[in-house]
Amino acid sequence: MLEIHLDEHDLDRQLRTDVALGLAATPKWLPPKWFYDARGSELFEEITRLPEYYPTRAERAILTERAAAIARITEAKTLVELGSGSSEKTRLLLDAFIANGTLGAFVPLDVSRTALQEAVDGLTVDYPGLHVRGVVGDMTEHLRHLPEGDNRVVAFLGGTIGNLVPSERTAFLGDLRAVLDEGEWLLLGTDLVKDPAVVVPAYDDAAGVTAEFNRNVLRVVNARLDADFDVEAFEHVALWNPEQEWIEMRLRTRKAQRVRITALDLTVDFAPGEDLRTEISAKFRRPGLERELDRAGFALRHWWTDPQGLFAVTLAQAVR
Ligand code: AVJ
Repeated sequence: MLEIHLDEHDLDRQLRTDVALGLAATPKWLPPKWFYDARGSELFEEITRLPEYYPTRAERAILTERAAAIARITEAKTLVELGSGSSEKTRLLLDAFIANGTLGAFVPLDVSRTALQEAVDGLTVDYPGLHVRGVVGDMTEHLRHLPEGDNRVVAFLGGTIGNLVPSERTAFLGDLRAVLDEGEWLLLGTDLVKDPAVVVPAYDDAAGVTAEFNRNVLRVVNARLDADFDVEAFEHVALWNPEQEWIEMRLRTRKAQRVRITALDLTVDFAPGEDLRTEISAKFRRPGLERELDRAGFALRHWWTDPQGLFAVTLAQAVR
């Protein structure tokens, strides 16, 4: 079953607003959520299999080792997953929760209706007896549509919280805390600060898959807003920002471009070498994350990392 809180019309309006705002700004930017059309989602799946892209493997290793403990500690009756995409890693958790005998419902929430429908169909077949309810929505806006229920665990995995700047993270964690009852849980995946020589290649792989993923946002805008970005004239840039401790992905045009965005009746000029910012992916340290959680009303109960200390999965509990 799918519950739709965000339809094509809403998404179209959001895209128009984001493109108009982002391309009028200095420096120019576009939000990362527009990477993920069908091709973008496929490219991201391909990224997760690249030798340089360690986060997916590291998080999977942690969840494989800790899923049983997570189920035992939380005794969740409902598992909510934000930005679930294909729900692949979710199966690790579902298996553990079901073995623990407490879980009754799984609620994946994602902006992509097609990805969600596929995930829900697959899970309904493989987990008979589990109530699966997909919610099409924006994780930063539709938290209030989370199901009622006791003892919920909200999983936000993959390090996607790193796409938010600190002020957005504060707002997001505050909103999430507001819809949870005291004692309920947040299971959070975060990539960790490490040697830039390891982080940068994860966002600038030798095969050029991340470059294609990055350029895909321009293909999305070209297709959906009838624009004429010369996509191939943009080169992929991945920069480590040591002050903010985040990766910045940018698209840098090799030549001057005058871009026409017909659906917005907008013309935008790019100087040669000008950057368009497309994503930040923040990396975390335990003390900083613990402080952010605490300020939002979550107590960090468990902090698990992979053997190499690349990635962390945090189990935090709503308090106060
Ligand atoms: C899906 C947001 C976690 O930030 O690492 C992968 C997206 N961008 N390569 C990340 C991404 C470039 C990814 N997240």
